[in-house]
Amino acid sequence: MKYKIIKIQEEIDGKLSEVTNTKEVLDLKVAYLGKKGSVSELTNMLSKLDIEEKKEYGALINNLKQDINQKIEVTIEKLAESEINKKIEKETIDTTLPASNIGVGGTHPITKTIDEVEELFVSMGYDVVEGPEVELDLYNFEKLNLPKGHPARDAQDSFYITDEVLLRTQTSPVQARTMEANLEKGPIRMICPGKTYRRDDDDATHSHQFHQIEGLVIDKDISLADLKGTLEVFAKKVFGEGRKIRFRPGFFPFTEPSIEVDVSCFKCGGEGCSLCKNIGWIEILGAGMVHPNVLINCGYDPDKYQGFAFGMGPERIAMLKYGINDIRNFYINDLRFLNMFNRINGGDDNETK
Ligand code: DAH
Repeated sequence: MKYKIIKIQEEIDGKLSEVTNTKEVLDLKVAYLGKKGSVSELTNMLSKLDIEEKKEYGALINNLKQDINQKIEVTIEKLAESEINKKIEKETIDTTLPASNIGVGGTHPITKTIDEVEELFVSMGYDVVEGPEVELDLYNFEKLNLPKGHPARDAQDSFYITDEVLLRTQTSPVQARTMEANLEKGPIRMICPGKTYRRDDDDATHSHQFHQIEGLVIDKDISLADLKGTLEVFAKKVFGEGRKIRFRPGFFPFTEPSIEVDVSCFKCGGEGCSLCKNIGWIEILGAGMVHPNVLINCGYDPDKYQGFAFGMGPERIAMLKYGINDIRNFYINDLRFLNMFNRINGGDDNETK
C-alpha cells in the first residue's frame, strides 16, 4: 500500500512537470482524484485493512490528496501566467520600426482653383451661389436669350433628358435663377462655380464634364469699366501682379456687348512665347454687359438696371497656370499627377500607398 502511494506521488509529479496547458492538468485531476481515479481506488482498498492500518494509510492517502490538489492549483496558476507572458511578448510594439505611411489626400487642382477664385470674389463682397446641374431648357437657354432653334445652341451640344430638361451646358442659367430670386431686392453680386456637361468627345482639350465659374453683377449705373476693373483685379490675383487684361469683341447671346478677355502672357510678360503662341496675350474668359432681353426675361427693367456677367473655365485656368496640356489629367485620378499639386501649394506630400 505504502509503495502504491509513493508510486502515485512520483507519477503525478512527473506528469505535472510535463503538462503544457490547463486542459491537460484538469484531465490529470480526473484521472487521479476523480471517482474512478487512482487515489479513489486506494481509498476503496482501505476497507479491507484492519483498524491500525486504516488509520496509518488513511492519513497518508489524505495527505496525498491534499498534495495533489495543491500541486494542480500551482501548476494551473503557472500555466496561466506563462500564457499571459507569451501573449504580451507577441504583442510587443517595436518602436524602432519606421512608421507606415498613412496616405493623406490633398485638394484637387480644380477645387484649388475654384477656392482661389471664390476667395477673391468673396473679399469683394460677392455671394457664392449654386444652381441645379439637371436644368430646365428654360433657364439653360430660353431666358438667356437663346430661344429654341437659335443657331448658338449648336455650339453647346447638350445631354437632353426630356425635351425640356437637360444637364446644364453652362453655369449661366444660375444668372437667371439668381435674378428671379432677388427680384427688386437690391443689387446682385454673385459667383457660381459648378459642374457643366456637353456632348463632346473627350480629348486633350475637351471633356464631356467640366467646370465653369459664372459671375454676375446687377445694379444701377453699372458699366463696362466696372467689369474691366473687376477682371483686372482677378487677373492679377490669379496670374500674378503686373498682369494686364484686354477686351476683344466677342459674341454671346446673353450679353451685349460681348467680349473675350485676354491676360498678358504670364510666361513671357507679353514679348511672345510658345505659351501665348507669340501673341503676348492669352484668352481666359468670356464676358459682357447683361443683354436687355435677359433682364426683361428675369423681371428686371433694363432702363433702371444694368449689369455685367462673365464665365470662365477653372480647367483652362489651372492648365495655363500649371502648364498642363491634357484636360483628362484632372479626371483620371493618377496620384502622381494629383500629388504634384499638394507640393506646389505647400501641402503635405504624403504618398498614398
Ligand atoms: N456661358 C458661356 C459659355 O459657356 C461663358 C460666358 C460668356 C458666360 C460670357 C458669361 C458671359 O456669363 O457673360 O461659353
